[in-house]
Amino acid sequence: MIRAHLTIDPSRIVGPINRRLFGSFVEHLGRCVYDGIYEPSHPTADDHGFREDVVALVRELGVSTIRYPGGNFVSGYRWEDGVGPREERPRRLDLAWHSTETNEIGLDEFATWLGKVDGELMYAVNLGTRGVLDALDVLEYANLRSGTHLSDQRIANGRREPHDIRMWCLGNEMDGPWQLGHSTAEQYAQLAATTASAMRQIDPDLELVVCGSSSAAMPTFGEWERVVLEKTYDVVDFISCHAYYEPEGDDYGSFLASAVNMDRFIDEVVATADHAKAARGTDKTIDISFDEWNVWYQSRYEEVDRITDVDDWPIAPRLLEDSYSVLDAVVFGGLMISLIRHADRVKAASLAQLVNVIAPIMTEPGGPAWRQTTFYPFSLTSKLARGVALELDLDSPTYDTAKYGQVPLVDAVATHEDGKGTTVFAVNRSLTDQVTLEIDVLALGSVADAKATSLSDDDIQAANTLDDPERVRPRDNTSLRLADGKISVTLPPVSWTVLTFESSGR
Ligand code: AHR
Repeated sequence: MIRAHLTIDPSRIVGPINRRLFGSFVEHLGRCVYDGIYEPSHPTADDHGFREDVVALVRELGVSTIRYPGGNFVSGYRWEDGVGPREERPRRLDLAWHSTETNEIGLDEFATWLGKVDGELMYAVNLGTRGVLDALDVLEYANLRSGTHLSDQRIANGRREPHDIRMWCLGNEMDGPWQLGHSTAEQYAQLAATTASAMRQIDPDLELVVCGSSSAAMPTFGEWERVVLEKTYDVVDFISCHAYYEPEGDDYGSFLASAVNMDRFIDEVVATADHAKAARGTDKTIDISFDEWNVWYQSRYEEVDRITDVDDWPIAPRLLEDSYSVLDAVVFGGLMISLIRHADRVKAASLAQLVNVIAPIMTEPGGPAWRQTTFYPFSLTSKLARGVALELDLDSPTYDTAKYGQVPLVDAVATHEDGKGTTVFAVNRSLTDQVTLEIDVLALGSVADAKATSLSDDDIQAANTLDDPERVRPRDNTSLRLADGKISVTLPPVSWTVLTFESSGR
């Protein structure tokens, strides 16, 4: 029998769990907005055209902050197209996704929808094809109470109260050659610094996110962060990280270890930010907004989805509609473990994306909405990660991967709230073997009411589909035992598990 061992000590605190870690992302892309959250002809649509079945699932998912309106889309977006009377809103080309944007939904409608799901709006400004003035305009429209041209325009559009958006992204993935307005680190840093300073002249308390690299694999990664932070350090609060994972061929061993790459990425960005801090001799710390992360079969987009025909500019095409397997969900759960493990520096994160587009929630026009496999690790982590993240002593056998060398078979993180309980999130990356995880909880005093839930399946490619929407779901893990200050639980091969228990404290 293969065993792994971990010890929980509630005094070894990494940092508080910020609710913003459970954010998501809604981009005007494919069927995320149109035929996703918004489908006026759907039987469950409310008076605004929002699908109530989707609202219910988003609430169940437990998302906090939602980044909007892009993504690559934002770099060609004119925010003012999406406000005011609908019949006057222009249709525009969306160059990022080779689609037509109808502008039926814009800032005000999205804010209304966010009210229904109790979400916080995180707004990205266009620094790709626009700049400082545009950012100031949308800020004035959104956040100024009244008495200026744009704030009064918002009121005339039926929104008396300001949206009071606190988090703002200064553009999107400006290091990427695919990005409209792609620039060098120096050019972007200059524009981001000027924009941030100007926005702070309206409101010094805004929380501003400067673009880091669109992936740790970018040739400019590291140097990009150094240059950008050198120029923007004093006027921003976060630097962004983006990461997407997919298997290369059938190298599932490396794929299952994707969190190793995420851990390293975070550590390297933290090191770069702290170098900038030391070089400036400042007390201010820059944190990470991991504002795009997921499993994404990007190769499928390139080979199948991408629209290139010069005459083809569809409205809400089916793009990036990945169907997620159990294998994907286990990798996904592992990525959430990595984010929580870095709770001291990753203070916000956005699962990209929310509905239909590389999403935990899928919909059929006129038909049902359902939960993908990835829905479950997200909803359970959002619900059960409470209090503080703990540093663990984890002793696990390792296995060899093509990409990352020797990697622990089991990965885990714990969160703890005094008087309320402890939660352990764990993955077993073995493709073949179950692993018995023994957890030493002596430092927590007497422990009771331990429960475990696992997501796994004999068929690791099993997925939830329109025809079989409940094929995969988490189940009670009845192998759990509690005796002599130790909990033991068997983790099936390729599985994600959450374990909760109450403790008296010592
Ligand atoms: O989430 C899909 C796309 O991935 C986003 O538009 C872009 O920012 C990233 O490259």
